Amino acid sequence: MDLSLWAELAYLLSSVLFVVGLKRLQSPATARAGNRLAALAMLIAIVATLVENQVLSWTGIVAGMVAGSLIGAVAARTVKMTDMPQLVGIFNGFGGGASALVAASELVRIQSAGTALVLGDGFTIAVSCLIGAVTFSGSFVAFGKLQGLVSGNPITFPFQKTFSALLFLTLLVLGASVMGVFEVGALTALTVFSIFMAIALLLGILLVIPIGGADMPVVISLLNSYSGLAASAAGFVIGNNVLIIAGALVGAAGFILTMIMCKAMNRSLANVAFGAFGGETGKAAQLSSGDKTARSVDAEGAAMILAYAQSVVVVPGYGLAVAQAQHELRKAMDNLEERGVDVKYAIHPVAGRMPGHMNVLLAEADVPYDKLFDLDEINDDFGRTDVVLVVGANDVVNPEAHNPESVIAGMPILDVHKAKSVIIMKRSLSPGFAGIDNPLFYMDHSLMFFGDAKASMTDLVREIREA
Ligand code: TAP
Repeated sequence: MDLSLWAELAYLLSSVLFVVGLKRLQSPATARAGNRLAALAMLIAIVATLVENQVLSWTGIVAGMVAGSLIGAVAARTVKMTDMPQLVGIFNGFGGGASALVAASELVRIQSAGTALVLGDGFTIAVSCLIGAVTFSGSFVAFGKLQGLVSGNPITFPFQKTFSALLFLTLLVLGASVMGVFEVGALTALTVFSIFMAIALLLGILLVIPIGGADMPVVISLLNSYSGLAASAAGFVIGNNVLIIAGALVGAAGFILTMIMCKAMNRSLANVAFGAFGGETGKAAQLSSGDKTARSVDAEGAAMILAYAQSVVVVPGYGLAVAQAQHELRKAMDNLEERGVDVKYAIHPVAGRMPGHMNVLLAEADVPYDKLFDLDEINDDFGRTDVVLVVGANDVVNPEAHNPESVIAGMPILDVHKAKSVIIMKRSLSPGFAGIDNPLFYMDHSLMFFGDAKASMTDLVREIREA
């Protein structure tokens, strides 16, 4: 059997492993194994590509792999959980940029060999470069917004959408020229290609700056999908099947995730992309509490209520991630369970700031997966629950979602207000991401447990032990 047949078999194997790995990401219990399978698939694909192409000089490749692995390992180990969307954003950007470079180098290779560019090849090169460049610059703007390097507020200017549309039309015309359909005046093919790339990079910036910082996780997921499409197109350019398949998987998975996030926020993709919703992340909007008053409780009081309940449901949110209170939370709940309290965790699909944020946090604290329940599974139980402990969550438990006049109208929420009593752990009455007041805080059966979630939880653990 010749080398290329072996390589195709290896590509087939890695494609199957990618699909199985992706499938395993569905559940927190199998996600780690799924990730390892996908990494193994990638290793097989890389080795097969290197062997098939009979690489003559390994120095650059090995140096690149060592440097890349080191940077990746250090970044993944040191990144804070709340900064994960930024890291994913950068990875997407590099993925898009790499695909664009692969396609560009193929164009340069064809031109320097003096061979004519086939229309189909020209098309895939233009598509890969366009999507790759948009993903690259867009991802770095998204990173900048989340990291606070670029203003998190939507950045808009007059006729912005018209200007972006014109740029896109220009790209279509230049793209046709890159494909070799026609020549642009006296400009060389390389000059036209350079202008094409520069405009594509500019378009990536212009598409992301008008979107508010708080919507960046959705944008990052969408850019993740783009990076997959760019990789798939690059796979067509160089005739590499595994790149086509892996790119298509990333493209589809990223798009599905984007739609899940939009659905859980009850917003359309167009509203996220053009709605200029959500400004600086963490910015407190005006409180419209008027003459309403919220009752507060201290650690001792909260411990008494929790310790003498039969059933407790914990609702974690963004504040749990900020405070890094997951380990203390686990200790508090362990103590309650030792006293015979039935403890469950309710997970809203967009609690926190990235998909699966709460699952990852609770997994860090070794909370058993079978205690985690999705919105659909647990929402009917709240009416029968003694105490709900809301830890740093706000929008995902805001009953305003049932008010048709509200900006979050229709957003699926966890109906914690139906429980017998609700304890809400947060630092103040400030709104959450959506910037609106939460009537839950002022309900008769609600108690505010003010303070940083970690400090409050530490006190709570002590008080439950003494209760
Ligand atoms: P939020 O509504 O953002 O509320 C989080 C609350 O945590 C804040 O009100 C804040 O109140 C509190 N907090 C912050 N730091 C804290 C600390 N150290 N200790 C205790 N509390 C702290 O969070 P949520 O309920 O998880 O909802 C998520 C929101 O993000 C939704 O609106 C969702 O649509 C949006 N979003 C989510 C995603 C994904 S994929 N998850 C993507 C884009 C947007 P204080 O300041 O008073 O403490």
